[in-house]
Amino acid sequence: MSDSTTSASPAMPAPAKAASVSRGDFLWLGWTMLAGFIGASAAASARFFFPNVIYEPSQRFNAGPAKGFDLGVSTKWANEQRVWIVRTEQGFYALWARCTHLGCTPNWFSDQSRFKCPCHGSNFNLGGDVIAGPAPKPLLRAKIELAATGDLIIDKAVLENTPGKRDTAPFFVEYA
Ligand code: FES
Repeated sequence: MSDSTTSASPAMPAPAKAASVSRGDFLWLGWTMLAGFIGASAAASARFFFPNVIYEPSQRFNAGPAKGFDLGVSTKWANEQRVWIVRTEQGFYALWARCTHLGCTPNWFSDQSRFKCPCHGSNFNLGGDVIAGPAPKPLLRAKIELAATGDLIIDKAVLENTPGKRDTAPFFVEYA
């Protein structure tokens, strides 16, 4: 009968000798990490002075000479500025071509004398009032001015669609 406790055990491999790091290497690593930390902190602090600003194009534009517009709806600026210029017997107003339902761009149908939104079917009359569909409010009118040069200046940053307010300056400009 053999005694398992007395049998020879396989030789254990000698532990690998740990790589040695010199004191100089350790200090160099420490200084490098500290310099990296300070650099990253300085960059983050400098970034703080440059806030995230979105530079959008101006909402104000020159629509050109008022005398160049005929009576009725002009679609001249519909694509570029999303604005219709409307000339009446009394003057001008500028309608923002943005449906008050969900923001789609309506189209002008001169034969029906109405703006129609292709998304959910809202219809607006020449003044921008809702005459069909789900739109809850009239189209907005943009601020409009007649410059000394005779040009119409439109500012889409200032909007109004309340009857009464929208029919006077600065959302309506008289023009003979
Ligand atoms: S976005 Fe114009 S009707 Fe819905």
